[in-house]
Amino acid sequence: MFNKMRKTKEKDVPVTKEEVLRHPMPNHVAIIMDGNGRWAKKRALPRAAGHYEGMQVVRKITRFANELGIQILSLYAFSTENWKRPKSEVDYLMKLPEQFLTTFLPELVAENVKVQVIGHAEALPDHTRRAVEKAVKETSGNTGLVLNFALNYGSRAEITAAVKQIAKDVERGMLAPEDITEPLISSYLMTSGLADPDLLIRTSGEIRLSNFMLWQLAYTELWFTDVLWPDFTEQHFLEAIAAYQRRDRRFGGVSAR
Ligand code: IPE
Ligand code: IPE
Ligand code: MG
Repeated sequence: MFNKMRKTKEKDVPVTKEEVLRHPMPNHVAIIMDGNGRWAKKRALPRAAGHYEGMQVVRKITRFANELGIQILSLYAFSTENWKRPKSEVDYLMKLPEQFLTTFLPELVAENVKVQVIGHAEALPDHTRRAVEKAVKETSGNTGLVLNFALNYGSRAEITAAVKQIAKDVERGMLAPEDITEPLISSYLMTSGLADPDLLIRTSGEIRLSNFMLWQLAYTELWFTDVLWPDFTEQHFLEAIAAYQRRDRRFGGVSAR
């Protein structure tokens, strides 16, 4: 009985793009794109096949987010902990930005998308870093969707680096301890200049943050789905946004509704 009621309410009527466009859009959507390996395993394919398929979904969702007028799309592509994976998998993952960007860059340029990267770029292989730098450079004048890739990104490493830099600036007399405010800390993070995410999506059924934007997600609405990233569609994206639009964001205050 209960299941039946829920079904008719939530599942039977798929939300449409038009409906979603009638309500305020999240300004910044962040996605932990997870489940590529399990997607491949289910098909008895190598894990790399899942990553390749996942890359096609990045393309699809970027295009769609841009179409919806979302301003920032942050995608967790490789974490500081992902180096623990077998070398062959890491090598493949490090080739993906080149593959993705050589085929996709002209489209990004044409569609006014601005590519940005957060993460420790200096630890990436040269060929990966070059591909990413080229995309950032060639799209730097664009004014549409900001496509922010988190590549070799880890939130604790980011916060640690920020604290170190703040300490150095205090030591050099450029900052006084009283100057250390929340906005100042934000400005020392890799996401400096980007508004905090309004909506975080994680695929593949894992209910954790895995070291992603711990500071920035303080008041973000979280949305989890069992769908594996290579199976993620525009329709799933619309469902996540519709769920966000139904939430009552209070930021510690009282309801404005
Ligand atoms: C996400 O998929 C991609 C990266 C972390 C690079 P996974 O590779 O983590 O896939 P699962 O979680 O093993 O299924
Ligand atoms: C998080 O996924 C990192 C990315 C999606 C890039 P993981 O698959 O690495 O996370 P855990 O290991 O399940 O926490
Ligand atoms: Mg995973």
